[in-house]
Amino acid sequence: MTSTVVVGGFFGDEGKGKIVSYLAKKDNPKIIVRGGAGPNAGHTIQDGDKVYKVRMLPSGFLNKNAKVMIGPGVVINPAILLKEIQDFDVSGRSFVDRHCGIIEEKHLTSDSKGELKEKIGSTGSGTGPANADRAMRVLKMAKDVDSLASLIVDVPAEVNSALSSNENVLVEGTQGTFLSLWHGTYPFVTSKDVTASGICADIGLGPKNVDEVIVVFKSYVTRVGTGPLANELSLEDAKRKGWSEFGTVTGRQRRAADFDFDLAKRAIMLNSATQISITKLDVLFPGCAGKKFFEEISDEAKSFIHNIEDKLDTPVTIIGTGPAINDVIDRR
Ligand code: IMP
Ligand code: MG
Repeated sequence: MTSTVVVGGFFGDEGKGKIVSYLAKKDNPKIIVRGGAGPNAGHTIQDGDKVYKVRMLPSGFLNKNAKVMIGPGVVINPAILLKEIQDFDVSGRSFVDRHCGIIEEKHLTSDSKGELKEKIGSTGSGTGPANADRAMRVLKMAKDVDSLASLIVDVPAEVNSALSSNENVLVEGTQGTFLSLWHGTYPFVTSKDVTASGICADIGLGPKNVDEVIVVFKSYVTRVGTGPLANELSLEDAKRKGWSEFGTVTGRQRRAADFDFDLAKRAIMLNSATQISITKLDVLFPGCAGKKFFEEISDEAKSFIHNIEDKLDTPVTIIGTGPAINDVIDRR
């Protein structure tokens, strides 16, 4: 059995969705299970000429043999989830835990104005206000919502029993280490802990049952919304480097900076990473685009990777070389 936990190492948008989709196909997990905050996350997945944008479903849903699940720690917007299940043809194998929290209209309303929107730059998805209600013990749970009845399973029991039967389980985190409510740049953070420990708690996976923790870093750092970003480039400089990106959920332009070793070191520590994944190497080194073998990339790109391994004392096992799921160098 192998349980593999994938989390973001910077401020979200590291490209976890693509890495998770690759692992979901390559490692054939029986269950792909999502922890993290809620529909404030957005993942873009490109499979051939098809592009999927998901906010609720685990990104690994393209593996049709896998069950996809959402752990009890996550808050759900039922309308978004049900639409994604239908649009992406995942019915019959999508499940939620009875204790997933439910985002209601009032949460969306309070998230779209005031301090959260203006000061924190929240995504307006209702995730923060729903988690606040959960802390107040007044939030509705999935078990209280008729439209979710057919999706409910005991997610922690399913995950742990798959591992006991020697199956692989892929655990998908959302957001990134420095958006963690505990470890991030408070108050400019999301409403949960989103480091590996928090993600495992969200799905009911105990610390002794975690085998691999893959921390995903993009080849440069981006941050959407407010809050500190060391060595931030001007939007023009970011554009010149080809680092202009726009958020999946909000469409806002992401701020950008060079790869940050101080943040990365701390992310390795906080997540007890066993492996590193580096995404968008082709944006930094265009000659790497679409490459599938480490031997094929330029010496400059190789030294970028070796430098990361040396400084962070952790192997870089999976490298993204393009937007499609299979644009990957897998060195495991
Ligand atoms: P909230 O989680 O919607 O309350 O937003 C709080 C902060 O976290 C804002 O700066 C958001 O831009 C940021 N944030 C939340 N989720 C994500 C994500 O999935 N990717 C990137 N930033 C996020
Ligand atoms: Mg995203």
